[in-house]
Amino acid sequence: MITLNNVRKFYGSLEVIKGVDITVEDGEFAVFVGPSGCGKSTLLRMIAGLEGIDDGDLVLNGKRMNDVPPDQRGIAMVFQSYALYPHMTVAENIGFSLSLKKVPAADIRKQVEGVAEILQLTDYLNRRPGALSGGQRQRVAIGRAIIKKPSLILFDEPLSNLDSALRVQMRAELQRLHRELKATVVYVTHDQVEAMTMADKIVVLNKGMVAQQGAPMELYHKPANEFVATFIGSPKMNVVAASAKRNGSVVRIESPVGLGLDVTDENGRIPDGPVRIGARPEHMKLVGEGAGNFVTEVSLVERLGVETYLTVGRPDEPLIVRTEGDMMLRPGDRISLNIDPDVCHVFNAAGDVILPARVS
Ligand SMILES: Nc1ncnc2c1ncn2[C@@H]1O[C@H](COP(=O)(O)OP(=O)(O)OP(=O)(O)O)[C@@H](O)[C@H]1O
Ligand SMILES: [Mg+2]
Repeated sequence: MITLNNVRKFYGSLEVIKGVDITVEDGEFAVFVGPSGCGKSTLLRMIAGLEGIDDGDLVLNGKRMNDVPPDQRGIAMVFQSYALYPHMTVAENIGFSLSLKKVPAADIRKQVEGVAEILQLTDYLNRRPGALSGGQRQRVAIGRAIIKKPSLILFDEPLSNLDSALRVQMRAELQRLHRELKATVVYVTHDQVEAMTMADKIVVLNKGMVAQQGAPMELYHKPANEFVATFIGSPKMNVVAASAKRNGSVVRIESPVGLGLDVTDENGRIPDGPVRIGARPEHMKLVGEGAGNFVTEVSLVERLGVETYLTVGRPDEPLIVRTEGDMMLRPGDRISLNIDPDVCHVFNAAGDVILPARVS
């Protein structure tokens, strides 16, 4: 188990990791996700021991690791730019760390063959990296890491240099690898789709802080704040400014974009006044004229085949609606939408959720 307790990092006077608490269980596939510059790589390098920890504790299997040198942490790391040795064969690249340790050649050969089998590189062991595809090279880089039999493997955006088809394939391969190795994985990416598809647990980072951590569908259904709400899910959740007015246990929420709905809030969580209301594109349903709670105009139609995205609302506050593929609508059409109030999220001005969705 990895535990980060109130971990902080400064570059000069600039605080880039601002008191982070994260737990990753044994065997878990954890994904750290967030926009560029939020501190993902820094945090990963702190776990690996490549960056110092200025405050707080890094605990690995019950032992405080802050001052343990990188090579004694039992951790392997795979970087985005994985420089392979071009003059060495695949087998020599994978076995390099063992030859440094003067492991007998026959042992190295055996272990390299084992790793190559897991990574489906058996037929390529005698080739040099220059004669491999991008995905195969990436697998060699992973082989170099897993031959050390680490209990923890760290990945820093390992797929971002690959084209999108290969990325999808490697996503599946990494998950298979994780199942076979039963190792704990911490995987860093800025891509929420990678996070959603691969993670047992997602840690969303924003500006050096944890915005939320939990299972993928937990973050999708119950985001703790507007940042997570709009980061997880594609197209992203629509969030618009609105005002709230209570009448008993029902709160009337109206937005200048043309949206008005009644939210049940028995516990009095929503104060009267300005709020922000969020609804996912997949939760905005096209209905017949006069039936919905949001009448608006279509400004853009994007057809993807299996589904169509409509941009509606005002130019300064556009919303995206996800509809069927063969929807025959055009820009300029007026439409009625219905949004089930129970799937809406209500946020305060600071972006914290004050009323999560009641159904999922
Ligand atoms: N050596 C350094 N000196 C000063 N500031 C740094 C240094 N390394 C990183 N930073 C700053 O720390 C912050 C976090 O950087 P980090 O590389 O961890 O971000 P990231 O989340 O990995 O981003 P990306 O998705 O672009 O890789 C950034 O604002 C960055 O500019
Ligand atoms: Mg990075």
